Amino acid sequence: MGDFVRVATVGELSDPGSTVVEVDGDLIALFHVEGVYYALDDVCTHDGGPLASGELTGHKVACPRHGAKFDIRTGAALSMPAVRATRAHDVKVENGGVWVRLRSGHGVDGPVAQSPVAKPATGLPIAPPPAAVPASSGVVAVPASNEGSAAAPSAAAAGALCEDSVRELLKQVKDPELFVNIVDLGLIYGVTLTPSTETPGKQQVSVDMTMTSPACPAGPQLIGDTKRTVAAHPEVAGVEVRIVMEPPWTPDRMTDDARDQLGIF
Ligand code: FES
Repeated sequence: MGDFVRVATVGELSDPGSTVVEVDGDLIALFHVEGVYYALDDVCTHDGGPLASGELTGHKVACPRHGAKFDIRTGAALSMPAVRATRAHDVKVENGGVWVRLRSGHGVDGPVAQSPVAKPATGLPIAPPPAAVPASSGVVAVPASNEGSAAAPSAAAAGALCEDSVRELLKQVKDPELFVNIVDLGLIYGVTLTPSTETPGKQQVSVDMTMTSPACPAGPQLIGDTKRTVAAHPEVAGVEVRIVMEPPWTPDRMTDDARDQLGIF
């Protein structure tokens, strides 16, 4: 662990506010909230977005690229598409200056549940533990209809059409950024089957699906893949996908398989 490096003068950074500073050659996001300073690697663990440029709300900063949120007190990732913490560093206020000391270790590589707890900056109040994953605003997007696309290879193997077989089919649909299927990610809130009035003997399938965040860039692809995959079953007359944001998705909804795949223990 290196020495503390003076990075700013007290009062120089607005409250709330954020800026980028350089410490030992690393770019560090410095935050100032309610009189307390915090320092994180200026690197979003999803795809390298600059956290110091993100929107700051209380003790949460949203990555400006795809919206993943991080707790500035600990570096913990609070929402998708980031699943790993970014590294938090030690901060102190002394002699009219703000000082940062880099931590070694693997904040960037560590799973959310094991993200480091920020040490108190010398002479500064200790930040409380991070809050739960934030709620997304309630949004209901509208339905999509059956496009009747080409059959997915294992549609017939899913067996007779029922809620379970639809969920089994949906395991073929993977989040393009996380490479985990949408069922194990906990994105499927409900599956409803209704006898088709237009095609006797077949079913209309309605899938209630959420997103990891309201601005999820993978949304259109996930909706399209879901429709195509379910529509491939021979007993399906049509597919409707409804996007629901209430209750908001949280990492708690992931199965153990998904956690294993993402390296979250
Ligand atoms: S780079 Fe930060 S959310 Fe994608």
